[in-house]
Formats: sequence, structure tokens, C-alpha cells
Amino acid sequence: MKETSHRIAKTPKSAIRELFDLAAGRSDIISLGIGQPDFKTPKSAIKGNIEALKGNITMYAPTKGVPELLELLEKKVKEVNSIESNWKENIIVTNGGSQAITLAFASVFNPGDEIIISSPNFVSYFYCSLFFGVKTVEIQRNEDFSPNIEAIKKAITEKTKAILINSPNNPTGHALSLTQLKAIVDIVIDNDLYLISDEVYENYLYDGLKHTSPASLNEMFERTITVNAMSKLFSATGFRLGYAVASKEIIDLMEKYHQYTVAGTNHAAQYGFIEALKMDIGFFEKILETFNKRRILVFTRLKEMGFDVIKPLGSFYIMPSVKPFNMNGSKFSRDVMKEQAVAIVPGDIFGSFSEHMIRISYATEISKLEEAMDRVEKFIKNL
Ligand SMILES: Cc1ncc(COP(=O)(O)O)c(C=O)c1O
Repeated sequence: MKETSHRIAKTPKSAIRELFDLAAGRSDIISLGIGQPDFKTPKSAIKGNIEALKGNITMYAPTKGVPELLELLEKKVKEVNSIESNWKENIIVTNGGSQAITLAFASVFNPGDEIIISSPNFVSYFYCSLFFGVKTVEIQRNEDFSPNIEAIKKAITEKTKAILINSPNNPTGHALSLTQLKAIVDIVIDNDLYLISDEVYENYLYDGLKHTSPASLNEMFERTITVNAMSKLFSATGFRLGYAVASKEIIDLMEKYHQYTVAGTNHAAQYGFIEALKMDIGFFEKILETFNKRRILVFTRLKEMGFDVIKPLGSFYIMPSVKPFNMNGSKFSRDVMKEQAVAIVPGDIFGSFSEHMIRISYATEISKLEEAMDRVEKFIKNL
């Protein structure tokens, strides 16, 4: 048989999914692996989806999305993100944030282009780069997980096409300050680049921090591809709905790629998203408080146990170093699973600089987190 795709063959299966599958088969395992909020999807979203199906909304949706949804997204990005857009030209509904990322890659890059990404960072970026023949230039984050602005500047070449940011961040929990964001924006403008801004965790910010969308800043709308989703805010990862906001030129390219690869997103589910967007965002305040308690608990316990750990500013992940225990992240992850039945993701899947780290998702109820921390403590004491 002739050889199959090198690019995809080179790609490992998702370690997170494997961990999740392993954990699913065993009742004793506490999973701190998966990036999925644990609260219930709002009833109105579910009802919107069901009612659409009852009304026989079962045909192809318009390629870029249902107009009512696009209009609501225009309103949302204006009111929440201060992004001025026109739903007819600047927004496309996607299959989750994941496909918004794919569309960003499909529309911006040519093979051989370079993208700059602070590392550690979300796994999919690295493989989208590979799939589209883009060279990833990984820039190691500072100790506190902030971006290394000077190193980013130095990494620019004539092939650099874009910088990608994800704030609040998976896996580090870092959130860009306005100063850091502006420093990145200056680099983008000075070097005539695009900025891909993955904002799926925009609502998960602690200690009163505020999210700024780069597309709202001067001269940035035309240069920015904003990626977002229904998944994390509405705890609706299975709806598979997200969206991208960008210039007309980019959205037109995205539409063509979308048309010939997936032909649109789930039609009835879009009515669920419509109902979710009509909700008062106040519903999220209590949820955020709960996540904040979890953040403090996990951070405090890890610190007491002797991990090198940075307090997360946003998202629902924490990424400690296991160096103090003289092992790497994958050994830690394997052994703590075997010995204490706690599923934790090894850091090396998030890039080249996090082999000595692990990523913990604290999107789990407090009692389970306490139990998981007790087990990790036992594991460490037995080393
Ligand atoms: C940073 C980041 N971007 C995008 C996604 C994908 O989101 P979705 O489930 O909406 O495809 C995730 C999911 O974990 C993520 O962590």
C-alpha cells in the first residue's frame, strides 16, 4: 500500500482523551484531566435546541450560521468585548472553538509561514500548524507564565505571519494584563502581522481581573481573528458551537473552507445557542465564585505539598512543576494514576518547555478536589 498522510501520522492521539477514556472505565478514579466545566448546561439552551428539532429544523443551516444567531453574536461582541462588527460580513458560526481555530489557520496561512506561540500552550495550535504546513515558533513563557515580549520580538522573521494568544490560558492559567496585551499588539502592528486571539475562557477571570479583546483596540480589528465558543461559558462542550470574528476578507475565506469541509454547523443546536445568548450573564457570577474557591483550594494544597506552583489568574487550570520531586511530568502522571487513581495530564503535551510540569483541571466539585489533593499528598509522601 502507498504511504498515508505523513502530517497526520506524525500526530499523537490526544493524551487528554486517552486519560479521559482510562478514567471513564474505573469508578475509583478522580479525573483532573478534562477541560470541561461541571455545571449543568442552562435549561434554555437545551430547550432552544429541542424546540428547533420539534419544529423540524433538520436541514442544512446557512453556511455562516443562522442570521438570528449571527445578529446576537454581533450584539454580544459589541457589548461584552467592545468589538464593532457587522454580522453579515464579520462573523461565522463554527463547530466549537476548535473549528474556529482551524478556520483561522486555513484562512491566514500558506505553507512555510511561521506562527509565534508562547509555550506551554493549548495542544491543538501545534497540530493545526502541522496540518497546514506552518512552522510553529515556540517562545518559552517567563517563570510566572507571562509572555516573553523581548523573545517574541527577536523571533520575528520575514516569514512570520501571525502571533497566537490565548488569554485566559489553557494550560497555565495565565491571563494577559492590558500592558502585556498592548506590547503584543504593538509587535503585531509594527511587523504587519495577524493576531489570532483565542478567548474561550474570557469569563473565567479571578480577583476582579477584566478581559480585553485585542480586536477592540486601535488598528486591530482588521488584523485580529477572534476565536470564541459556547463551550466553556455555558458548559456546553457537546453542542460543538463556537464562532470567529474577523475582517470581511478573512471571513469570506473561512466561509469557502467551511463550505467545502463541513458545510455548516448543527442547525438545531444553533437555536440552543440563540437562547443561551439571550440569558442574563448574571447566571455566571455564582459559578465563577465556585471556581474561585476551587482555584484557591488547589493552589494552597499544592503549595503546601511543596510543588513549584504559580497562582492561576484565569481559566480553570493550574500547572505546577514536579521538579521538587525529582521526576518529570509524564512519570508523575502515570504513577499517580496507577498508585492513587488520580488522572492528571502530563505537561509535555503542551509544548517543548513543560516536560517537568503537570496540568490539573479544577473544574470538579470541591469534595472531589479535596479527596484528589489528599491522594496526591499520599503519593508524594510515599515517594
Ligand atoms: C484554549 C482552548 N481553545 C479552544 C478550545 C476548544 O473549544 P471547543 O470545545 O469549543 O472546541 C479549548 C478546549 O479545551 C481550549 O482549551
